[in-house]
Amino acid sequence: MKNIVILISGSGSNMAAIVQAAQQRQWAQRFGVRIAAVVSNRPDAAGLEWAQAQGIEVSVLDHTAYASREDFDAALQALLDAYDPVLVVLAGFMRILSAGFVQHFAGRLINIHPSLLPAFGGLHTHQRAIDMGCQFAGATVHQVTAELDHGPILAQAVVPVLPGDTAERLAARVLSQEHRLYPTAIEGWLSRTRSA
Ligand code: GRF
Repeated sequence: MKNIVILISGSGSNMAAIVQAAQQRQWAQRFGVRIAAVVSNRPDAAGLEWAQAQGIEVSVLDHTAYASREDFDAALQALLDAYDPVLVVLAGFMRILSAGFVQHFAGRLINIHPSLLPAFGGLHTHQRAIDMGCQFAGATVHQVTAELDHGPILAQAVVPVLPGDTAERLAARVLSQEHRLYPTAIEGWLSRTRSA
């Protein structure tokens, strides 16, 4: 069985959607993969408890305990390498990863970003889309490259921006699409890798 590892920093709702999809759509039988571990850089990430209750191995690697980004990334790389992951999934993982880390996991590192990339990389995507008068917003699943929120796009979901939208309302509309998009994008990646 090959391992998928999911990295989170917060509520972990995308992680939960992926774990549920893996169970319901029988990724183990169809693709020979399992969600082996969930790793958080924040000890208080709510998603950790949920993952543990599902019987998934969880680890916390608190980035504040490391002197530099490179030190943290080296520790994270060592932790992940122990699983020899076929895919590393960033799901609301709020850390910029160093070029060396990205290079090490090149081709098996993916992220979800709450905008229609290449528009609105970085933070506060929903407010920025509203401020620009965008009529559509959404989310993007992409391969991770050394440049933040860049990298080849694997899948996108589009939602309308509605009159009177606040960043919170738009974020909720986008997030519910993320929960559909991310598992589907991973499944597409698994099918392609399997037949490659
Ligand atoms: C998502 O909107 C994700 O795209 C962004 O942060 C949010 C994480 O939510 N990077 P969750 O932790 O998956 O609930």
